[in-house]
Amino acid sequence: MPTASNKIRVLMVCLGNICRSPTAEAMLRRKVHEAGLDDRVEVDSAGTADYHVGSPPDRRAIAHGERRGLKLQHLRGRQVERADFDRFDHVLAMDEDNLMNLQRLRPPGSRARVALLLSYAPQAGAREVPDPYGGGAEGFEQVLDLTAAAADGFIAALRSN
Ligand code: 4NP
Repeated sequence: MPTASNKIRVLMVCLGNICRSPTAEAMLRRKVHEAGLDDRVEVDSAGTADYHVGSPPDRRAIAHGERRGLKLQHLRGRQVERADFDRFDHVLAMDEDNLMNLQRLRPPGSRARVALLLSYAPQAGAREVPDPYGGGAEGFEQVLDLTAAAADGFIAALRSN
């Protein structure tokens, strides 16, 4: 039985940590649970910006997530920190801007693999999870669709290793 210390740790990262990355966190956590992998994978999320540190997710992200059975309301925003690049095995960015900021922040020699989340869903036809903050309901639904596809791909990759 794996112990806590050999868990695979995944950090989902967006800008504000109130829309996309908490949704991605809850989505992967649920799919990990459904796959029976709770003892192998740990998931967290953070933002590259500090705008919403300590805040719950956006109420629209909570509401849309709830309709697909995800619980987000207990999550609180935090900003990515340098130590995250050693704490986590995978740091997964929602878009290119956040990926670039992560690559800048990453201390040389740190162990995390930094990548775009959607590299795990090549069939989704998108490289980025678009920021839904300034838009309508369809943006939040798209975040759910894309993060679901990526979570499936991540679990498949884990199983094939
Ligand atoms: P997120 O969305 O990066 O998916 O959490 C945003 C949330 C807040 C802001 C921008 C994007 N903002 O500018 O406050």
